[in-house]
Amino acid sequence: MTKQFPEGFLWGGATAANQFEGAWDVDGRGPATSDTSRSVSPEERKTMAGSEFTSPMTLEKVQFALSDTEGLYPKRWGSDFYHRYKEDIALMAEMGFKTFRLSIAWSRIFPKGDEQEPNEAGLAFYDRVFDELAKYGIEPLVTLSHYEFPLHLVTEYGGWKNRKVIDFFVHYAKTVFNRYKGKVRYWLTFNEINILGMTGYLSGGLLFEDEKLHLDEMYQAVHHQFVASSLATKAAHEIDPDNKVGMMLARMEAYPATCHPDDIMEAIHKDHENLFYADVQVRGKYPSYMKRFFKEHQIELKFEQGDEEVLRQYPVDFMSFSYYMTSIIRSPKSQKDGEATAGNLIFGEANPYLESSDWGWQIDPVGLRVTLNKLYDRYQVPLMVVENGLGALDVLEEDKAIHDAYRIDYLEKHIQQMYEAIEDGVELIGYTPWGCIDLVSASTSEMSKRYGFVYVDADDQGNGSFDRYRKDSFFWYKDVIASNGASIL
Ligand code: BG6
Repeated sequence: MTKQFPEGFLWGGATAANQFEGAWDVDGRGPATSDTSRSVSPEERKTMAGSEFTSPMTLEKVQFALSDTEGLYPKRWGSDFYHRYKEDIALMAEMGFKTFRLSIAWSRIFPKGDEQEPNEAGLAFYDRVFDELAKYGIEPLVTLSHYEFPLHLVTEYGGWKNRKVIDFFVHYAKTVFNRYKGKVRYWLTFNEINILGMTGYLSGGLLFEDEKLHLDEMYQAVHHQFVASSLATKAAHEIDPDNKVGMMLARMEAYPATCHPDDIMEAIHKDHENLFYADVQVRGKYPSYMKRFFKEHQIELKFEQGDEEVLRQYPVDFMSFSYYMTSIIRSPKSQKDGEATAGNLIFGEANPYLESSDWGWQIDPVGLRVTLNKLYDRYQVPLMVVENGLGALDVLEEDKAIHDAYRIDYLEKHIQQMYEAIEDGVELIGYTPWGCIDLVSASTSEMSKRYGFVYVDADDQGNGSFDRYRKDSFFWYKDVIASNGASIL
């Protein structure tokens, strides 16, 4: 019997408006947090020092970024999907995409975030995109908030720590659910919702004047996003019963470094830190381990009457997550000096059994099977891997070919492990590798960290034709999709 993925499996690719669209000040789009992300130099890369992703933002830095004429802010031009969407969607169709994950830039629809009336030009842009996708039978999977947030809501309201933002978000969500009814069925509310609890600014719009992260404000902002997400889920179902709404977690699988019982317990704590978000959004209530954590850290969350009920009544329909790497966890009791490693917001000891990418992220295909099993055992809802991939330095040859065998190797091994997980019984419904067409990196704002099947001819400074070229992985992925996985199983 031929090994294949289940019929109807949603093969595709993923992007986000803030890193892909560009056109940051076109057709009435308002400024967003992502527009203030300056590019990190290659030297800063490994620690992400200077990145707005990890360091606390201040109002001063935001104002500086907006008036800065010297610095580089590559998310402002992205890959120019705004003007090249037809060509890009044709390339996706050529690969055989069944689905395309993209996000709507909130500040394109509501430039300041708190208006009553939406910006028609912004709405019309996504109409054009969804119509183009429909021409090829590609199902959009749309994130409502992916690492950008209207800047006006930061400066006037203090970001997500302000409860009023819930209403603005729900108004935005209802506006797009109504407008794109019948065109979009799959929605994600907040990209990597757990990252807000670790950073604050990009997705949460939080500023910390003393340049320290404040856990209490971050968790209050998270609570507001939970409530907003549940209310948006409710609205999505009311507006169109065909809508399916998912949560999105940056999954960080943490292995205990040894069999020392304290390492095992440390790994459980680490898992709780990560799974807390899914526990609330899928199971509909705050887990008890988190109540203990809040108590021990003197965090007193403000709940309003009805919040618990809203969370309980409107959980998500499915769970999606990003998976790039795993980490290892060691308790002080089994401490030894291990080699350090980098990652998407995890800096820790390196796993000696794994190799690393050029950016120090450790590559672990089996970890994807581990995580799929763990998540499905725990939640028993359909799962989607909506980000995975290898950020690498690609070379555009004279003949415009790009030989990215390393990327093929990475993706192939991960897809094989997804297949194993499905055989284990996991209900996995889709796979959208990250940055299917090259785009600007979220953490370091570089173009040279490429994930795509399609090369975009632009450098870190924004020089280049922005023309698109098919990489070797483009043809490989096309075969994978056409054979529903059989070509590599
Ligand atoms: C995820 C984000 O964390 O990782 C994406 O949802 C991001 O927006 C991706 O681009 C890869 O991270 P980076 O920093 O390599 O772009």
